[in-house]
Amino acid sequence: MPGIRKNEKIRYRAAGPFFIIQLVKPENLNALEGEDYIYLGELLELADKDPNVYFTVLQSSGRFFSSGADFKGIAKAQGDSSVEYASETSKWLSNFVARNVYVTDAFIKHSKVLICCLNGPAIGMSAALVALCDIVYSMNDKVYLLYPFANLGLVTEGGTTVSLPLKFGINTAYEHLMFNKPFKYDTLCESGFISKNFNMPSPSSETFNTAVLDELRSKVEGLYLPSCLGMKKLLQSNHIDSLNKINSMEVNESLKYWVDGEPLRRFSQLGSKQRKHRL
Ligand code: CAA
Repeated sequence: MPGIRKNEKIRYRAAGPFFIIQLVKPENLNALEGEDYIYLGELLELADKDPNVYFTVLQSSGRFFSSGADFKGIAKAQGDSSVEYASETSKWLSNFVARNVYVTDAFIKHSKVLICCLNGPAIGMSAALVALCDIVYSMNDKVYLLYPFANLGLVTEGGTTVSLPLKFGINTAYEHLMFNKPFKYDTLCESGFISKNFNMPSPSSETFNTAVLDELRSKVEGLYLPSCLGMKKLLQSNHIDSLNKINSMEVNESLKYWVDGEPLRRFSQLGSKQRKHRL
């Protein structure tokens, strides 16, 4: 398998029919900067191109799956005087729109079966990517998904305008998005979002990741794996058009908010702990 550049927060490896991507920065709860999301997209492309890969498995480490966009990265993008932009629109097209639309598109069109090992909560853009996965396993009942767009002066992104109503029902999506309410384990289970809870205590992400992989190995034994990809393509065809359409609409709507500056004010309050999410 040809390699690509390295990233200190994200590792990857191929193991038989599985392409494993792992977030490995537990100290900041696996928050990701724009470049990291781009890297995730590049890894998905790598998995797409590898004929030996049938399943792309997302794993993480520590107590969170990922706490979403890194507020330090956002402050850096705002204060970066080394790049001169013609306008605020131009700045946020580079720092928000381009990377967001790219990684979302990589998840929407991914041709391999996307499996998420949810070791803990996921927030924001990372939670949006979890909602684009085909199968989700949870480590225990402490997991939740939070889409804090209303608390951060943003709008739905990462395809959540389509994926959340699809997976939870439109009214449940409204209730959680409008009032910045986490999708807790009970909702994730009742809706069928989580296929299996591995019921492991919290500080055991590595054991959980290994257990999921062992179970997957035994599940795929004897299967004709091209059938899995054929079915993925057919199942994907149900919603791919609306996801593609919304990917573009979401970033164009969000752009106005970035240019106006409200998300920056709110991210900076989050960074200085003046603002908190209600969990
Ligand atoms: N960016 C950068 N650092 C982060 C982070 C983030 N998103 N989330 C957590 N961290 C860091 C904290 O600063 C802290 O670092 P220090 O130990 O150096 O202080 C460390 O991770 C642990 O975090 P907390 O002490 O805050 O842990 P907690 O358990 O008390 O709270 C939390 C956890 C509720 C997730 C809280 O950290 C939090 O609210 N984080 C922000 C989540 C967020 O809003 N992310 C952005 C989502 S929006 C998005 O993703 C859309 C987009 O594209 C712009």
